Amino acid sequence: MNWTTEKRYLPYDQWNEAVVNDMKQHAQTSPWHPKYHVHAKHGLLNDPNGFSYFNGEYHLFYQHFPFGAVHGLKSWTHTVSHDLVTFTETGHNITPDGPYETHGVYSGSARQIDDKLFIFYTGNVRDKNWNRQTYQLGGYFEKNGAFNRLPHILIEQPDDVTEHFRDPQIFEYAGNLYSIVGGQDLNQKGMIKVYEAIHNDVENWRFIGDLSFENDYTAYMMECPNLVFVNEHPVLLYCPQGLDKNVLEYRNIYPNLYKIGQTFNPENVSIENISELQQLDYGFETYATQAFNAPDGKVYSISWVGLPDSTYPSDAYHHQGVMSLVKELTIKDGKLYQYPVPALASLRTNPQPLKSMAQTTNNYELEFVLPKDSHSTLTLFANENGDGLDITIDLSNGCIRVDRTRAGVPFETQFGTVRNAHLDNAETTINIFIDTSIFEIFINKGEKVFTGRIFPNNNASGIILSGDALNGQYFNIITHGR
Ligand code: FRU
Repeated sequence: MNWTTEKRYLPYDQWNEAVVNDMKQHAQTSPWHPKYHVHAKHGLLNDPNGFSYFNGEYHLFYQHFPFGAVHGLKSWTHTVSHDLVTFTETGHNITPDGPYETHGVYSGSARQIDDKLFIFYTGNVRDKNWNRQTYQLGGYFEKNGAFNRLPHILIEQPDDVTEHFRDPQIFEYAGNLYSIVGGQDLNQKGMIKVYEAIHNDVENWRFIGDLSFENDYTAYMMECPNLVFVNEHPVLLYCPQGLDKNVLEYRNIYPNLYKIGQTFNPENVSIENISELQQLDYGFETYATQAFNAPDGKVYSISWVGLPDSTYPSDAYHHQGVMSLVKELTIKDGKLYQYPVPALASLRTNPQPLKSMAQTTNNYELEFVLPKDSHSTLTLFANENGDGLDITIDLSNGCIRVDRTRAGVPFETQFGTVRNAHLDNAETTINIFIDTSIFEIFINKGEKVFTGRIFPNNNASGIILSGDALNGQYFNIITHGR
């Protein structure tokens, strides 16, 4: 398919049914669809959207271009879950049907208001000359899946930002509703604007200021900002595109980072006593992480395991992008921890002692504890030549190295095929989740995380252990026959 701009932005109802069915059928033949991660069966999935709790269920939408593995006319595809582990698509999607979203229903958030789920999103519009206008829009998602748009624009594009102004996140603080929106100022620097719902009415928003968070003003755009409260501490998650690598070293095309503060002060619109910028994930592709404070008092997050402006081997099968597992955010000793929700353990079956294996299902979890001073290597997704994803955990030298140089079909190699992080030389617990074409490595139950994609050839699925003995367990993950 030759992806002209016209094709990418063709209204959904103008797609030829036979062409779409062909594409869907071809997508089904892909060997790289994960079994227990949210993913698009066809087309391109990017940001998590509207992650929330409503009507006794968790709701997760995702940015979706359903017609191919490219960024085109976006909608929100809807899924629900009872346990934050298994998500089911409902077909109640939010498609670009309104006048202020002709070129895409872009990212945003959701929150229960009375007996409806309020959806706060960005409408993207292009004119004949392809100039962009953005609108922050809203609507109510009903219990029966109907979506009713509000007819008016909730936040207009302010005069002091460019057309890069999007991704409203709604949150509550001290009984009041606020929203933050990511943007680019007229000097082409990334910033975040803060709004307050007047009398807590989500249909009426008042600008209260630019968020003060010790912005270094080296990024050119802040995509997908989220403010959540973990043990009362404000945690700001965001994607500062173009951030100067002297501020924080990163290898991915765009970083997804966070800062922890002491308090959020709406009076002067600031996060006070804020930390340095930190990596949310040390792996190859994590972006647009969305988190929310759930009614059960927990903070849940989920990330797009993919990056903008990138291509993936699965594109040949018309699908791109998966979600991470849902992670719970906590703070211990001043550090942010991210770890999959406990219900995930219910998918474990057939525990076996961890050992080298010629073949697995590529749907499994490993859990092991490494003693101080140890040096061990695991090769996962290993083929018969022993090539695969190499994970070296060298506690004696205080580091972990994740290397996909020899793993499956190469892609985006210009950003390097190795990622490293520092580890303390102390007993270390490692959990690794493998799902067909995705890996998630958690160190010390979420102190550090490495996430990435792998596109194994011919179902390469072995495990090779070397170095100091790795004592632990292997669990198959039940995949409900998917
Ligand atoms: C981030 C992003 C958002 C935007 C959406 C469009 O990946 O560019 O800023 O709303 O994707 O799909």
